[in-house]
Amino acid sequence: MSGKILVIGSANTDMIVQVPYIPRPGETILGGTFSTAPGGKGANQAVAAARAGGQVTFITRLGKDMFGDNALQGYHNDGIDTSHIIRDATAPSGVAMIYVAKDGENSIAVASGANMNLSPGDLMKAESALDSADILLMQLEIPLATVETAAAMAYEKNIPVILNPAPAQELSEDLLKTITILTPNESEAQLLTGIPVRNHIDAGKAAKALLDKGVKTAIVTLGGRGALIVDENGERLVKSFEVKAIDTTAAGDVFNGALAVALALGKMLDEAVRFANAAAALSVTRLGAQPSAPHRNEIESFQSKLKA
Ligand code: RIB
Repeated sequence: MSGKILVIGSANTDMIVQVPYIPRPGETILGGTFSTAPGGKGANQAVAAARAGGQVTFITRLGKDMFGDNALQGYHNDGIDTSHIIRDATAPSGVAMIYVAKDGENSIAVASGANMNLSPGDLMKAESALDSADILLMQLEIPLATVETAAAMAYEKNIPVILNPAPAQELSEDLLKTITILTPNESEAQLLTGIPVRNHIDAGKAAKALLDKGVKTAIVTLGGRGALIVDENGERLVKSFEVKAIDTTAAGDVFNGALAVALALGKMLDEAVRFANAAAALSVTRLGAQPSAPHRNEIESFQSKLKA
């Protein structure tokens, strides 16, 4: 394995308002601070994987607008192969409106724009990118048919697939059977299995149900409590690192990007999850999605400080 990751997914520009708390429906609150940052779950994963040391190819659709231009420039700056990115003249680039509360929690609404035009046909034209990948990494902010097609193609070619089922939606068993590692959070695990997930014991039950549906390994991310791995070797909790959260936006994306790289570079699963936990912990100490993704040297020095 040489650390080659193919990420297929969404790209957004995030419009962030930091607020004391998330406003309730019908409520207006003053005193916020505004900023913009590159985001989108797919792009966040691609950037996180590149900074964690992967050779990343990213497939997405961007509008032919300023947001798309800026996003593309950012991917170049992170050394990502953008040769399969499509500029879409028929739809604007994706945009996300994000509230970030004082405790680091967030609330997000996405205008998907060009992301929802990324089609199975687009993937056929980019098959060479899949052929040279060690791992395919995806999420669910693009059409489900595209995710299903990519996963089926990778399965046929024996390329491991990591699917982060976010935002949550129901998935067919045909798709789940093609997934090597599924990485839901607690609410996504609940939606996918119908099992109420309130703690890590419930998370273990939901993860086992996902294995029964054909997933090889389920990793349920539990925020500050860590990540629960369930596979053929049983169940274990890999604890997270204690940090003060400023903004939890994209913590899951950073976890997935770092996990993919660690595995593609040959780390064993539990060690790869520890590396991904460290990357995600660092990311929540910083504002913004892609600005928060740490570089490999930062992750390694964070891990070694905690070991010392
Ligand atoms: O996971 C965080 C991301 O979700 C944000 O960057 C936003 O763009 C939405 O896609």
